[in-house]
Amino acid sequence: MNESPRHPGLAPAAIRTTDKRMPLFWAGLFLLVALLGLVAARPLSFRPPRNPAALEALLAAGPHAGECDRCHTAHGGDQITVYPNALVGPDDNTLCQGCHLTPWSGGSYATNNLYLGTSHGSKTSMIWPGPTPPARIEPDAATKCVNCHDPHGWTDALGAIPSLLLQREEATCLACHDGSPATINVNTDIRKTYRHPATDYNGRHTGPKESLPSDFATTPVSRRHSECVDCHNPHVSRGDGSFAPTGVAASKNNLGVSRVSVVNGVAGSRPLYLFIPGSDTLTTPNAEYQLCFKCHSTWTTQPTGQTDFATVLNPANPSFHPVEAAGRNANIRAGAFVTGWTATSITRCGSCHGSDFGTVDGPHGSTYQYILKKPYTASPARRTMTSTEICFSCHDWNVYANNASTTTVKAYSRFNPGAISQGHAYHVGTRQVSCYSCHVTHGSTSRAFLLVTGRNPGINTFTQTTNGGTCAPTCHGSESYTVNYAR
Ligand code: HEC
Ligand code: HEC
Ligand code: HEC
Ligand code: HEC
Ligand code: HEC
Ligand code: HEC
Ligand code: HEC
Ligand code: HEC
Ligand code: HEC
Repeated sequence: MNESPRHPGLAPAAIRTTDKRMPLFWAGLFLLVALLGLVAARPLSFRPPRNPAALEALLAAGPHAGECDRCHTAHGGDQITVYPNALVGPDDNTLCQGCHLTPWSGGSYATNNLYLGTSHGSKTSMIWPGPTPPARIEPDAATKCVNCHDPHGWTDALGAIPSLLLQREEATCLACHDGSPATINVNTDIRKTYRHPATDYNGRHTGPKESLPSDFATTPVSRRHSECVDCHNPHVSRGDGSFAPTGVAASKNNLGVSRVSVVNGVAGSRPLYLFIPGSDTLTTPNAEYQLCFKCHSTWTTQPTGQTDFATVLNPANPSFHPVEAAGRNANIRAGAFVTGWTATSITRCGSCHGSDFGTVDGPHGSTYQYILKKPYTASPARRTMTSTEICFSCHDWNVYANNASTTTVKAYSRFNPGAISQGHAYHVGTRQVSCYSCHVTHGSTSRAFLLVTGRNPGINTFTQTTNGGTCAPTCHGSESYTVNYAR
């Protein structure tokens, strides 16, 4: 009687059945596994035989609870081919695929078709490095599910690890993503002073089916967290290759994770939110900001004092950095921007937030506050701005902060010499008034040009006119200016 290695007739629930002859079965199986190990001359030490009772208890408490013979055969001699570990088929992903046939049934595994397109499902370097559990050493180890999962489960000091993973939460990922075997070193960034708190909490993430605002909220129970799998689906995520995301689009690194889309109302209003599950990998736009809104908008309950980014970035607002749509100030001269940026560019959250390091994409961590790629001091206190600050990645330092620039250069900004010499370069460069005194960064629900009042030093009142404006600042009496060129 030849068992099909893939057990096609197996209903997943069947694995949960129990059998009174189990003790005998296990004894036989352990012997068999040990013998086969010897016969195949495979070093058993790479996965030392575990205590049978402990293994049984662990398996019984997990999602694979039930009979061993769903995956192992106690009568290996009956089979034409004898497989490693006395398995019913080859010790590879075909075993898992035999039962895990329904895409997204558990929330994040979308079957082999999508898995094959990931680096995890295709790279020869994708091999569990150990030391706990020990490194995999068989020649065909790469791309196997068992590089992240143990079908029986695995334990650490806190007990059984959820989702049959080899290490708890981010530790599974960081075992490889620390430079070797994965070359993309996320470990360094995620441990920097300013970071997404993946390593800070355990047990707040409850699995790929999280879909409620309370799953990410600060109150009533603090569930605030950001594990790798809140932003990445290890079964679906893939590289962008030579097709870097354009416009508002998210990177394919974030494919297959849930997000929150918005239907915007009038300026200043809270948008309507729509939760989109990770299984929706095709809907466009699959925007990067939708991923961030899962935790950084009033869809959930944010920490006190944190900006509701969905409300301030609404394109109906008087001004905003162009994250959801191109900006309102479409005629800013090209010369005011750094090469590569124009008034109609889209700025993604990731244009400003990310690693200070520059080699690993993503907002994992930075030595700069607010996980910025370059520094910025969010204070109106007077200071000399340097050309390495974040604003000057896109807005030309010579236009906005260097009063020694030519009049032509300074006049690429409207608020500049021209009628009176109190424009950007003068204020920022000569008077050490930083952008923060006059501008909010993300969006304004009430004012054009991202202008803000009430900071000190800063603007007390601002009145916009057709070709200029009148400011009453904390520093001097009310003054009016005429724009260098039409708005
Ligand atoms: C869902 C499938 C599945 C079930 C159910 C299952 N096993 Fe396994 N087992 C495997 C796979 C796959 C391997 C090879 C693991 C590897 O290569 O890392 C394995 C390996 C083993 C090994 C040798 C290496 C190790 O990980 O310790 C033993 C012993 C073992 N199984 C015992 C059992 C016993 C006893 C039961 C029932 C209590 C059982 N297994 C149930 C899939 C399963
Ligand atoms: C004999 C059928 C069968 C085989 C073979 C099998 N699984 Fe499962 N697996 C299941 C069932 C049933 C569940 C429980 C699903 C549920 O509760 O919705 C499950 C659940 C899981 C879970 C979810 C863990 C959790 O805590 O939610 C993971 C991960 C998993 N399997 C991985 C694997 C991997 C990896 C393999 C191959 C080594 C594999 N499975 C082989 C039937 C199987
Ligand atoms: C790079 C690591 C990694 C690899 C490789 C991997 N998984 Fe997973 N898997 C995870 C993590 C992490 C989770 C938990 C996800 C969560 O909590 O959001 C998970 C969850 C699951 C689940 C639970 C239910 C669900 O749909 O999310 C199943 C089933 C599963 N994996 C099957 C597989 C199979 C089958 C393979 C091989 C084809 C595989 N995994 C390969 C990391 C991995
Ligand atoms: C808050 C969301 C978030 C969290 C948490 C997160 N990432 Fe990312 N990650 C991203 C985004 C966004 C990108 C893609 C940036 C881009 O290319 O535009 C990314 C990119 C990556 C990349 C590819 C980088 C490159 O240079 O190609 C890897 C690998 C990665 N993340 C792994 C991880 C691991 C491992 C963890 C957990 C330790 C993690 N991420 C946690 C959002 C996140
Ligand atoms: C066994 C090693 C291993 C583990 C564990 C692992 N990765 Fe990876 N991952 C790789 C390799 C290898 C690449 C290819 C790029 C590289 O070399 O850095 C990769 C690439 C990625 C990418 C870039 C997209 C792609 O497909 O190229 C993301 C995102 C990522 N991994 C996230 C994760 C997350 C999240 C986890 C934990 C759930 C994880 N990885 C666990 C080995 C691993
Ligand atoms: C799953 C939840 C989650 C997602 C998704 C998420 N974040 Fe976060 N983020 C957090 C948590 C938790 C913190 C720690 C502070 C807090 O509770 O907000 C944080 C902190 C930050 C900070 C630092 C805030 C500070 O006060 O210094 C920035 C910047 C940030 N995230 C940007 C992003 C961006 C950009 C995205 C989208 C690519 C994103 N986040 C997606 C949960 C998330
Ligand atoms: C043009 C650059 C830029 C873009 C685009 C941008 N940010 Fe920021 N962000 C900043 C700067 C600079 C700060 C520092 C504080 C400030 O100026 O408000 C900051 C601060 C933050 C903070 C912490 C302070 C707070 O107000 O809560 C979070 C969280 C954050 N950003 C998330 C996001 C998210 C999410 C997106 C996209 C939806 C985004 N940012 C887009 C530049 C940017
Ligand atoms: C990633 C590129 C980028 C970065 C970094 C950046 N900006 Fe911008 N900014 C833009 C683009 C593109 C526009 C044009 C939007 C438009 O035309 O309305 C813009 C517009 C503006 C406007 C005018 C908005 C309006 O509606 O009139 C102000 C003010 C501004 N930025 C200030 C800042 C400050 C202050 C910083 C640093 C904290 C900064 N920007 C960082 C790209 C950037
Ligand atoms: C003293 C107040 C003040 C400071 C400091 C300031 N701005 Fe402005 N900014 C303004 C005013 C007023 C406008 C509106 C110009 C108009 O009427 O069109 C403006 C407009 C802008 C615009 C729209 C296009 C343009 O140039 O007219 C950008 C971009 C901008 N500021 C960036 C910056 C950056 C970057 C910094 C810091 C390096 C900065 N601003 C510092 C007052 C200020």
